[in-house]
Amino acid sequence: MTQQQPMRVGIHDIAIATGHHVLELDDLAETLSVDPAKYHVGIGQDAFSVPAADEDIVTMGAAAAQEIIDRHGAEGIRTVLFATESGVDQSKAAGVFVHGLLGLPQNVRVVELKQACYGGTAAVQLALGIVARAPHERVLVIAADVARYDVDTAAEPTQGAGAAAMLIAADPDLIDLEPAAGVFTADVDDFWRPNDRSTALVDGRLSVSAYVNAFVGAWDDLAGQGGPAYDDIARFVHHQPFTKMAIKAHRKLTQHVGVPFDESDLALGFTYNRQTGNTYTASLWIGLAALLDLDDDLGGERIGLFSYGSGSVGELITGIVRPEYQDHRRQGRVRELLAARVPLTVPEYRELHAAGAATSEDVERPRVTAGPFRFAGVRSGARHYERTAQA
Ligand code: COA
Repeated sequence: MTQQQPMRVGIHDIAIATGHHVLELDDLAETLSVDPAKYHVGIGQDAFSVPAADEDIVTMGAAAAQEIIDRHGAEGIRTVLFATESGVDQSKAAGVFVHGLLGLPQNVRVVELKQACYGGTAAVQLALGIVARAPHERVLVIAADVARYDVDTAAEPTQGAGAAAMLIAADPDLIDLEPAAGVFTADVDDFWRPNDRSTALVDGRLSVSAYVNAFVGAWDDLAGQGGPAYDDIARFVHHQPFTKMAIKAHRKLTQHVGVPFDESDLALGFTYNRQTGNTYTASLWIGLAALLDLDDDLGGERIGLFSYGSGSVGELITGIVRPEYQDHRRQGRVRELLAARVPLTVPEYRELHAAGAATSEDVERPRVTAGPFRFAGVRSGARHYERTAQA
């Protein structure tokens, strides 16, 4: 009798989008009379994306998802999962706007997921379950966020904006995700955003220790679930609220496991996040996109993906990169997006920041974005989106 191979399910494609503008942290450092090395070395960030007045999580999420649809079509997509911390409505899922903008068929379920920066990984897990039960279906997962802290706080340099869209499918082109997962939940007030605030509250020091504890806790749980040995994982990618956070956590894990640590092992996965800043739910996946784009030796290798959402939930999953993954990269695409961003001065960024809070007041937004979709404004209290000339 021939043994049946287990079904392969995982990430078939991934695409990234970010904001129209960029603020260089050198400029913020000069304004605040801070040594720029504190940003570049101390927290490990170089710049952050800032959405234009006519951009938000919907326009960025739709832009990333459009690249997936352009390549694969909508066939088999019966579920859209939109993960975000910075939702634009308390009731309507941001994914419903994206569904409309992309012209997806009506026989699709759409829902929004929230648990700070962790929601994208929860969406991937739900998608894997759907595809495992109905292998002819594909799930469009979108993770998009605008990370906003108050100006003149310690967290100001760790803002950012971006989106990742992924197609979760059977027989994936990029990564077979493995079934064992390490999970960890602890009720911690390290970062949160009450309903009446458009900027997050954060205890930065506590968020470091909570993240580190969640990573080690998820590692131990993964081991208990029959997960791989440390040496059987060729690369790690972390959620990156600022890239130094990933280094601190990884150093701790290597001490816990008793293996040497070379922080340069994580560097390729930091390449895009150092430029976008924190993208909350999208951060881990933007890190993964960088690794897949820039590392030429991943074929057949196991990678570890660590997700963390303050409050707090951590999850460590693993996957085997497909031998032919290089054939499916969007070579140079993310670098092109990052290079095309329009720089802001600090006063310009702060003006946009002040106007960035969600509102139900009727307003028309100026035409600024060079992306395929724009937030046109609020009419009768409802948000309106449209395709731009670039679409
Ligand atoms: N050159 C190099 N490094 C420097 C430096 C300089 N001139 N000046 C300071 N640093 C280093 C510090 O030594 C420190 O490094 P360490 O953490 O390895 O000790 C680091 O820069 C940060 O400086 P510090 O003064 O401790 O921090 P801060 O009060 O400015 O706050 C954060 C930094 C990251 C905590 C803050 O930006 C924050 O809270 N961000 C939000 C974090 C978040 O989003 N958490 C929730 C999601 S997990």
